[in-house]
Amino acid sequence: MKAVVLCAGFGTRMRPLTDHVAKHLIAVANKPVLFYAIENIVAAGVRDIGIVVNPNTHAQIEAQVHRGERFGARVQYVEQPEPLGLAHAVHCAREFAGDEPVVLYLADTLIDEPIANATARFEREQPSAVVMLAAAADPQRYGVAQIDGDRIIRLAEKSPQPPSNLAIIGAYVLDHHIFEAIDQLQPSARGEYEITDAIQALVARGRLVLPHVTTRWWKDTGTPADLLDANRALLDRIVPDSRGRLDAASSVIGNAIIGAGTVIQRSRIVGPVVIGNDVRIDDATIGPYVSIGDRCDIRRTIVENSIVMDGSVLDSAGERVSGSVVAAGVCLRVRQ
Ligand code: G1P
Repeated sequence: MKAVVLCAGFGTRMRPLTDHVAKHLIAVANKPVLFYAIENIVAAGVRDIGIVVNPNTHAQIEAQVHRGERFGARVQYVEQPEPLGLAHAVHCAREFAGDEPVVLYLADTLIDEPIANATARFEREQPSAVVMLAAAADPQRYGVAQIDGDRIIRLAEKSPQPPSNLAIIGAYVLDHHIFEAIDQLQPSARGEYEITDAIQALVARGRLVLPHVTTRWWKDTGTPADLLDANRALLDRIVPDSRGRLDAASSVIGNAIIGAGTVIQRSRIVGPVVIGNDVRIDDATIGPYVSIGDRCDIRRTIVENSIVMDGSVLDSAGERVSGSVVAAGVCLRVRQ
């Protein structure tokens, strides 16, 4: 089994953040969203991973993931030249996949459930597809699957009248028949080749398509508000670990991870908070629900419910930064 990880989206709903960083490299709880996907795949024992990228973000993503060594994976890159939809992105990875079944993973989705549970079901029951689903309050935002007994009998993409409340969360296990189904697709109303339509075509041809419904946490990180939601959910599970230095005038309340080489002076850390390596914090209040990347410099600022990525400087004369996603290398100063 191989995996195809889709990282070709442009992240238009996160502009201007995504003008500078691929949306899949945005850090949540100090780890790029894409890394969570790769880790989940490798934990399922799948090591051959094809990452589908767009020509603009290819270099950035490859510079972070390389050949997958740090994950114990073997990563190859496939370019999707034009944004023609998820099914088109999968089609671009056809040569990489060969005849093997693939885990298809949308890299902007955070999925707590081990996908090993879906791959095990695929191995055991040998269907054409296993689709991961979760009950959603707003199923019209997603692809949706209708189940009868133990199989999926219908799928629909972003239907105004969804046939069920079971949203497609963005991880699938697919056999090679998916490529024939993709070859015969027509573009959807939004002008894209939809993977949901390709799987519906498998169902229509009588192939076995199984659901795997998760009751665990998941999040599609399409907007800055989604990133902050995901950040809060992941920070709620951290295990405290302090490797930095706090002076006697600083305090930590609640759970915090503080990286090596970080120096905190005259500041309050209100967990849950993750602070990276080689960060400097002076006269500040950090938290709750804040992730601060490596090499940041934060002075005289109250930071809450925010993500601050690597190498940023905040110095705001006691002002509050709240509900914000601060890209890497940003300098935010308030003049007095
Ligand atoms: C895609 C899929 C949709 C799925 C969703 C999960 O939608 O087309 O079926 O429910 O991901 O996040 P997109 O986010 O590309 O609009």
